[in-house]
Amino acid sequence: MRGIDFDHLAKRIGFAELGVTTAFIDFGVNERRTLDFLPKLFAVDTGRSIIPHGHANMVSAHLPLSGNFRLRQYDQLSRDEQSLTIRPTVDRTIRSGDLSSIGEDDDNVHWFIAEEPSYTFDVIVTGLDDTARQPYDIFNLDMEEAERVEGDALRVPRLTVSEALTKYG
Ligand SMILES: [Fe+2]
Repeated sequence: MRGIDFDHLAKRIGFAELGVTTAFIDFGVNERRTLDFLPKLFAVDTGRSIIPHGHANMVSAHLPLSGNFRLRQYDQLSRDEQSLTIRPTVDRTIRSGDLSSIGEDDDNVHWFIAEEPSYTFDVIVTGLDDTARQPYDIFNLDMEEAERVEGDALRVPRLTVSEALTKYG
């Protein structure tokens, strides 16, 4: 709400007597913000995957357009140079019309395995934190090497993109 100057906007548009009022949102035009919305299509063949990964400084939403996926998601609890500590939250099949999303911590790690030739329409929002060194970051994870740390939390080693693609792509 701070990011969109909600109080000011809400006051300006008020409420309609019938239906709704709306406003275009200009994200921090005077603050040199780098917030970006990126629409993207992903094509994933049978047995191939959007490799398991977590994120920093970005969120996203994912709508399968056709096909179906086994989707697993995890909260991101902490992160260091070698690993992420995560907690499982989602393990389900998603198909056309099922929306999934990630938050900055909640459900932040995701892993889609296509069960047939499948496509998703994604909207990716980067640059959430203007003070960060990079507009966003992605951490690929070696789920087979996950070790249980506390309760259902898992400590999972990080992988380079090529290592992760070889093992999970
Ligand atoms: Fe992602």
